[in-house]
Amino acid sequence: MEQIEPVELAGGGVRLRPWRADDADAALAALVDPDTRLWNAGWVQTREDVVHWLERRRDWTGDHASWAVEDAATGELVGSVSVHSIDRSANDAEVGYWTVPAARGRGVAALAVDAACRWAFGVLPVDRIELCHAVENVASGRVAEKAGFTYEGHLRRSYRYGDGVKHDELLWARLADDPAPQFSSRS
Ligand SMILES: CC(C)(COP(=O)(O)OP(=O)(O)OC[C@H]1O[C@@H](n2cnc3c(N)ncnc32)[C@H](O)[C@@H]1OP(=O)(O)O)[C@@H](O)C(=O)NCCC(=O)NCCS
Repeated sequence: MEQIEPVELAGGGVRLRPWRADDADAALAALVDPDTRLWNAGWVQTREDVVHWLERRRDWTGDHASWAVEDAATGELVGSVSVHSIDRSANDAEVGYWTVPAARGRGVAALAVDAACRWAFGVLPVDRIELCHAVENVASGRVAEKAGFTYEGHLRRSYRYGDGVKHDELLWARLADDPAPQFSSRS
């Protein structure tokens, strides 16, 4: 796997930057949120877990690029976005994300996912990025739609989430030549 050059990205009031070791407190506070535990990293419960979680995200030598999402004005942690499962032979990847509870409903996730996708299409480059979320996670479907993804199908009992249950998922994808979303000030 080729080394991916860690990079900062900006746009629409958010800044994406590589995770730092001193993000542990803020990351742990976000990751213990029940919805984040259910739909993302259910295994992160302790400080030791979050240190391990951060080590993985700070290592860009693997098949992913992972960013902390900050409010560009305040520098406050508002979320996380990761382009992962990068497959250079298939020319595709997947995207994952969460936002801190206090920052939800402000368009942060859609902006961050769009910024990460633009980077992946331009720099890696990949041609296709997939996004999957549990059928019950309606907010995540809105993020997909707002970030320029097209709904492609319903996957049955396809992924075991933080509750230990395999949920049906909805599959979305964005292609490199799909129209990029147009955001207003903060959508
Ligand atoms: C899903 C999540 C990332 C959305 O983050 P966000 O920053 O609030 O996203 P945005 O503000 O860009 O958009 C959220 C959209 O979902 C909508 N929404 C929120 N809760 C909803 C619900 N229960 N039902 C329907 N729509 C909902 C919002 O109204 C908004 O849509 P709008 O812009 O049309 O009003 C965030 O809620 C989260 O981190 N959840 C827990 C972890 C998670 O689900 N991660 C994704 C795993 S696939």
